[in-house]
Amino acid sequence: MESIKFDFNNMFSANIRSAQGVEDKDLTEISAEVQKAHEHLSKVKGDERSRIKLSLEWMRLPYQDTKTLKEIQGLGNEIAKKYDSVISLGIGGSYLGLKAAQDALAAPYFNEFSGARNKRPRIYFEGNNLDPDTLSTLLKNLNPRKTFVIVISKSGETTETKAALVVVENWLKKSRGKNYSRQIFAITDPESGSLRKRVIAEQKKDKLSFRSLSLLKGVGGRFSEFNMGLLHLAIIGIDINKVFSGAKDMAKRCSSNDYAKNPAYMYAILHYILYRKKAKPLAIMMPFSESLKSTADWYVQLLAESLGKKYSRKIEISADGVEEWLSDKNNAINVGRTPIPCRGTNDLHSIQQNNIEGENDKVVTFIRVNKFRDEIKIPGKGDILSGKSFSELMQLAQEATEWSLSREGRPSCTIIMPEVSAYHWGALLFFFQIATAFEGELLNVNAFDQPGVEGYKNYMYYKLGKPGINQKIADEISSNPLKKDQKYII
Ligand code: PA5
Repeated sequence: MESIKFDFNNMFSANIRSAQGVEDKDLTEISAEVQKAHEHLSKVKGDERSRIKLSLEWMRLPYQDTKTLKEIQGLGNEIAKKYDSVISLGIGGSYLGLKAAQDALAAPYFNEFSGARNKRPRIYFEGNNLDPDTLSTLLKNLNPRKTFVIVISKSGETTETKAALVVVENWLKKSRGKNYSRQIFAITDPESGSLRKRVIAEQKKDKLSFRSLSLLKGVGGRFSEFNMGLLHLAIIGIDINKVFSGAKDMAKRCSSNDYAKNPAYMYAILHYILYRKKAKPLAIMMPFSESLKSTADWYVQLLAESLGKKYSRKIEISADGVEEWLSDKNNAINVGRTPIPCRGTNDLHSIQQNNIEGENDKVVTFIRVNKFRDEIKIPGKGDILSGKSFSELMQLAQEATEWSLSREGRPSCTIIMPEVSAYHWGALLFFFQIATAFEGELLNVNAFDQPGVEGYKNYMYYKLGKPGINQKIADEISSNPLKKDQKYII
C-alpha cells in the first residue's frame, strides 16, 4: 500500500528564497533536544503504567484485540439493520473524530441519499452545542421507532451532552413507552461518572437497556477516535481493521529516533522551529478535499487543547515510581500554535488573501489527495478547461497556492495522501497525534490535559448551583463578576 508522504520543501528558507523559513543550522542546533524528547516519549510509551497514568494509552489503540473489533463491527451491523437513523450525542473528543470519520470515509451527502448510504442509517450529531434549534428540528422530524441513540461521554458529566440526553430520552419515552431505553447505547468510562452509574442501574433492571462500551483507561477524548469512534465506524460500514492497519503502519514509520526518517517528528520539529525562531504562531490546516474538512476541525481540537498551555510541565516521580506530570505554577509560559481550519479550493477566495499578504505569522499545511473516489471530466472543446478533470484542477490549484506562498516568502508544507481510504485516514490521524505528542515534548507541556477548559465549566456550574462546587472557585467567581457597565454598551 502506498504511504502518506510529508513534503516539507517549502518550510526551508532556501526553497522559499526568504529568511522566513527554517535554516539547516536550526536543525543541527535542535538535534540534542530532539533526541531527549524522543528518549522521554519512548520511555513513557514503553511502560504500561506510565502510559495509563499520563494518558498515552492511545498509542496502543490500533493494536486492540481482533475479537473485540469483530464484536463491535457485528454490533454496528445489527444497529444498522434495525434503524433508519442514529443520533450520536457527544462533544469535543466525543464528537469531532466521529464527524471527521464520517465526512472522510462515508460517501458525500450520506444522510441525503439512500444510494450514498448503502443501507446504513442516517447519522445525526447532537449534544455538541446548546443551540436549541437543531435538536428541536431533528426531533420534530425523526421517527422515534426507527431511531437509535448513542451517547458518548468519557466523564459522563459534560453539560451539552447531558442536557441533550435528557431531552432525547423524553422524546423516546413519549412514543416508545417503558422499553424506550433499549434504544439507547452509552460509551463512557468503565467505572466513574454519572453515565456509568446510569448504565449500571439500567442494566440491573434490564440487560437490553443502556447497553454500553467501556472506554479504555489512559486515553483522553481528543486522542480517542480509535476507541470511542469504533461503533460509529461499524454502523456506517467502515472496516475498522483497515483504519487500524494504516495507523499501525504510521506508528512504525514514526518510531524511529532519526527524524529524517520519521514524518511525524519532522512535522513537529519544523513547526516548532518556525514558531520559536521565526514567529509563526498560526497553523493553517488546509486540505484540498471536501471530505477532509472535518478532519481539519478535528485537528484544531488536537493541537489547541494539547499544546495551548499556560504552565510548563514539571516532571516528578511519584511513590509508585511512575512519572507524574504537574503544571509548574511558577513557570507561566503561555505557549501553543493557534490552529485555523480551512479548505481548498473554497478558502482560496477567502482567507488566502490574508495568508499571502497579511502578517507573515503563519505556516500552511496542505493536504493533497492524489486520487479521488470519483472523477468528473469537463466536457466540450476550445476552452482551457475543456477535457480537464476536476481532480487535475484541484491538484493544480494546490500547487498554485503553494507556489504563491513560496513567492511571498511564506512557509508551507504538504501532506500527500494517495487517496482518502480507511487505511490512509487511519494513518493520517495517527501521524497528527504523534506529531502533537512530540511537539508537546519539545515545548515541555503536558499535551494530555486541558485545564483551561475548566474555567467556563466552573462558571456555569456555579451559576446553575451545582452541589459540591469547590469553595475557592465559588469565591473567585462571586468576587469577580463580569463587568457589564452600560457606559460601554451602545
Ligand atoms: O479532549 C478532551 O478530553 C475533551 O475535549 C473532551 O473530549 C470533551 O470535553 C468531552 O468530554 P466528555 O467525553 O467527558 O463528555
